[in-house]
Amino acid sequence: MRKPVIAGNWKLFKTKDEALALITELASKVKGVTQVEIIVAPVFTVLPTVKTALSGTDIALSAQDVFWEEEGAFTGEVSPRMLLDAGCSHTIIGHSERRQYFSETDETVNKKMKASLKGGLIPIMCIGETLDEREGGKTFEVLERQIRGGLADLPAEVVKPVIVAYEPVWAIGTGKVATEGQAQEAHAFIRGVLADIFGRGTADATRILYGGSVKPDNAKGLMACADIDGALVGGASLKGDTFASIVRYNE
Ligand code: 13P
Repeated sequence: MRKPVIAGNWKLFKTKDEALALITELASKVKGVTQVEIIVAPVFTVLPTVKTALSGTDIALSAQDVFWEEEGAFTGEVSPRMLLDAGCSHTIIGHSERRQYFSETDETVNKKMKASLKGGLIPIMCIGETLDEREGGKTFEVLERQIRGGLADLPAEVVKPVIVAYEPVWAIGTGKVATEGQAQEAHAFIRGVLADIFGRGTADATRILYGGSVKPDNAKGLMACADIDGALVGGASLKGDTFASIVRYNE
């Protein structure tokens, strides 16, 4: 009942030519896949180029971040309206790299969530604990704070399209993937918090993706977990064949 989502976060990689080569290879390798929603998130500068290359495919386009104002004197920022104009249907919000290096907080995540939903962009809201937090027994506390903070003051009917990505910081780019047990436990907890805030119906309909060292050889096992509805893939999304294998995890 929850359609799986496999999303590729390209982070700070790929110029125009490189992006075109990747998307062309990917599109040919995932042709005919209909049972999985596929999303790619390139850097801002190549969004329109990638959008053009995606025409005739079912692959959706996402940004990696967004600002909460529609327009104004905010040098360097990009608004939901501009992302829609560039061809995006989705945007990542609150990635741990933005929390870590660019002072993103639950409050700024919340502003971005509200602006995106208001503007018609589907947010992929990232949450996840650091290694210290996990070892200190604070995982659930951190996740709950991030969910409640990021989704504060949003009614259930507005939150419906939101995709949540659980990305334990210690598993990102480290090759140290969470075990299926660790991931499932966190996902079930996240769904429980969503149910507490928005009701069981909304929680059961929300896709919760796992992110952190997802590769072709661990995707199938993770995707088999009851509360894991997809993957947010970093490194392995930068190559057409590996990302396509993850998309085709069930074949
Ligand atoms: P890796 O797949 O490279 O660990 O990155 C995960 C991630 O941060 C996706 O947003």
